[in-house]
Amino acid sequence: MNYIGSKYSLLQFLDECISEVTKGSEENKVFCDLFSGTANVGKYFKKKGFQIIANDLQYYSYVLCKQYIDNHKPLLFNNIKEELSITEDENIKDKVCSYLDTIDGVEGFVYNNFCKGKHTENEEYRLYFSDENGAKCDAIRQKIEHWHKERKITNNEYYFLLATLIENIDKVANTASVYGAFLKKIKSSAQKTLTMKPAEMIYNDKEHFVYNEDANKLIRKIKTDILYLDPPYNQRQYSANYHVLETIAKYDNPLLKGKTGMRDYSQQKSDYCNKRKVKEVFNDLIMNANAKYIFLSYNNEGLMSFEEIKQIMSKRGKYGCFSKQYNRFKADKESETRHIKTNITTEYLHYVICE
Ligand SMILES: C[S@@+](CC[C@H](N)C(=O)[O-])C[C@H]1O[C@@H](n2cnc3c(N)ncnc32)[C@H](O)[C@@H]1O
Repeated sequence: MNYIGSKYSLLQFLDECISEVTKGSEENKVFCDLFSGTANVGKYFKKKGFQIIANDLQYYSYVLCKQYIDNHKPLLFNNIKEELSITEDENIKDKVCSYLDTIDGVEGFVYNNFCKGKHTENEEYRLYFSDENGAKCDAIRQKIEHWHKERKITNNEYYFLLATLIENIDKVANTASVYGAFLKKIKSSAQKTLTMKPAEMIYNDKEHFVYNEDANKLIRKIKTDILYLDPPYNQRQYSANYHVLETIAKYDNPLLKGKTGMRDYSQQKSDYCNKRKVKEVFNDLIMNANAKYIFLSYNNEGLMSFEEIKQIMSKRGKYGCFSKQYNRFKADKESETRHIKTNITTEYLHYVICE
C-alpha cells in the first residue's frame, strides 16, 4: 500500500542499524511496532523470528495487523466449504477469494457515498471508485460481515478477508495518493476491476499481540525487548488522509461530511501531529516505555527537532543515531495524476539503550 511515512523501502536500513545496536546482548525475542500503519515493519521482524506486538490508532491498520501479524496458522474455512462447493482443502483461502470475486455488486454504502452511482452529472458526488468497484466492494464487505455474524468464519478468517479487501480496494482508488481528495475523472488504474488477490500469510509458531489503542495508553501495559517507534512526522492526520479505508474497514454507516465525505475523527486525532503537544506526548512515551532498546524513525522535516529528540531519549540511557539520505516520493496534486515529484530528506533512526 502506498502509505504516508511507509518504511517499506527503509526495511534493510532499519534491520542493519537495529542489528548493530543490539548485537552481543542476550537474545531479544519481542519486537514492538507501536505505530504500525501498513504493518510492514512488524511483518519484516515477524519473518526474522520475533514475537511481535503491533498497534495503531486506525482501525484499517488494526485489520492489516490482525492479518499480517496475528494470523500465523493456516486458515481452513471449514464452515463455508459446503456453501462454496469447495471439495479440496488445497489453496482454500485463494478459492474463497475467487468466490468473492464472482458475487454480484450491491448498491450499498460505498456505492452510494463514494461513487457516481445514481447521481446525475449536475449533482455533486464523490468519485473515489468506479461504480462497478464500489458495488463490488459493498457486496464483498457485506458477505464477509454476514459470514462472521453467522459464525461461518472464525476471527482469523474474518481479518484475512477484510485485509484482502482493504489492500485491493486501495489499488483501484481514484486518488492522487491519499483520500484527502479524489480525482475528477476516473484514472486508468481505478478503471481496473477490484480483484481479491489474497493477502500474504506469514506462518510461524509464535503468538503475537495486536492492539488498536493510543500509543501512550498502551505503552503503560506492555513489555518488550525492542521498541520501534514510527509516529507521524508532521501535521497530516492519518484519520483524515485514509478516512475512506477506515469507513470500509468499520462499515459502520457513519455520517459523512463535506466534499470528501469525511467521517468524524475527533476521537482519532493524533497528538503527534500537533506542534504544541508533540514534545510532551513523546516525552511521556519514552519515560513510560518498558524496553531494553528504543528506536525512533523521524526525519529532518518533522515537528520535533533533532536536538529535542536527543535530549528526551538521552534521559533513558546511552543515546545514538543513524541517518540516511532518502528519496521521498510526493504525489503532485495539481496534475490529478500519480505524477511524482521527488524530495530528498534525511531519515534518522535515533536510539537509546535503556539503563
Ligand atoms: C509514519 S506512520 C507508520 C508507518 C509504518 N511504519 C509503515 O511502514 O507503514 C504513523 C502511524 O501512526 C499512527 N498513529 C498516529 N498517532 C498515533 C497514536 N497516538 N497511537 C497509535 N498510533 C498512532 C497513524 O495512524 C499511522 O498509521
